[in-house]
Amino acid sequence: MDHFLLLLGALMVLTLKVISCAMSYNDGLLEEEELREAQKKNRLIELPSFTEYVGYCLCCGSHFAGPVFEMKDYLEWTERKGIWAPTEKGPAPSPFGATIQALLQATVCMALYLYLIPHFNISGLNSPAYQEWGFWKRLSYQFMSGFTARWKYYFIWSISEAAVIISGLGFSGWTDTSPSKPKWDRAKNVDILGVEFAKSSVQLPLVWNIQVSTWLRHYVYDRLVQKGKKPGFFQLLATQTTSAVWHGLYPGYIIFFVQSALMIAGSRVLYRWQQAIPSNMDVVKNLLVFISFAYTVLVLNYSAVGFMVLTLQETLALYGSVYYIGTIAPIVLILLGNMIKPAKPSRSKARKEQ
Ligand SMILES: *[C@@H]1O[C@H](CO)[C@@H](O)[C@H](O)[C@H]1NC(C)=O
Repeated sequence: MDHFLLLLGALMVLTLKVISCAMSYNDGLLEEEELREAQKKNRLIELPSFTEYVGYCLCCGSHFAGPVFEMKDYLEWTERKGIWAPTEKGPAPSPFGATIQALLQATVCMALYLYLIPHFNISGLNSPAYQEWGFWKRLSYQFMSGFTARWKYYFIWSISEAAVIISGLGFSGWTDTSPSKPKWDRAKNVDILGVEFAKSSVQLPLVWNIQVSTWLRHYVYDRLVQKGKKPGFFQLLATQTTSAVWHGLYPGYIIFFVQSALMIAGSRVLYRWQQAIPSNMDVVKNLLVFISFAYTVLVLNYSAVGFMVLTLQETLALYGSVYYIGTIAPIVLILLGNMIKPAKPSRSKARKEQ
């Protein structure tokens, strides 16, 4: 079973690479003026050779757990071009400090996961004891199971980040500060504190599974927006559904990603209200910031149950055991958002600040 899961992970990353390589090559055939920034940056003018293609697809270190990266960057790294080109200051910077940091992070995540998993796990969610608990205890157990499960992903991503950094591919340019320092975030797939302390669900795709979110933005979301039009709920839902199909056709994944589209739409309502509050009402503003944070952790951990148990029956039973609170909350927010619309002037100001 475990071998099977490893193979699945490898195929998931491979799928993204094959698609992005093909689409970037296609972008290379189009007129440059018609392309978005990301397309211009990643487009391939020449067809990569067979060896380059196989090297990109099977690049070890990132084979089983990602992260996904662009063919263009892979080619520049292997050929010592672009940011990897040797400068007068010498060859590329040393990756050792950043590698050790990623390894330390991996160790902490593994330790925390191994400490928590005997207490909060899927079998606990399905145990007879769970059925006897009251609402708050069930909700907290769901909450803690989601929290615990995340550390497994933090560990896997940190350890492959270390592998990609030490290979040199993880290098992503220099900071603007003086003296400039090397940046190593090409393989950074998660910002742990960013996830755990997210003030709004809108931030989550920017800090969780970062490389796949970027991939989804460049290869799905952006390409669904017609020229001159704004993206809406359709683009969001289509992107989250693609993500669900990519994870595997389990009902739990589909439910999770529909949940997450609702969660983000609800968060946007809170954000609009927050922006509309005049600056002399700090208490109300801070209260809304706190509500937005609490809403995010609540709905995220509730939604994560679907991601963990996967079957339709179990997911619905567990959601029902806490009265579908994490589905009702975003829907109520979205409906309220349609009724309570902040005044126009502050809204256009908010848009500018965004
Ligand atoms: C799962 O958690 C429960 C406590 O909720 C514990 O009794 C059980 O041993 C745990 N199972 C595993 C496999 O760690």
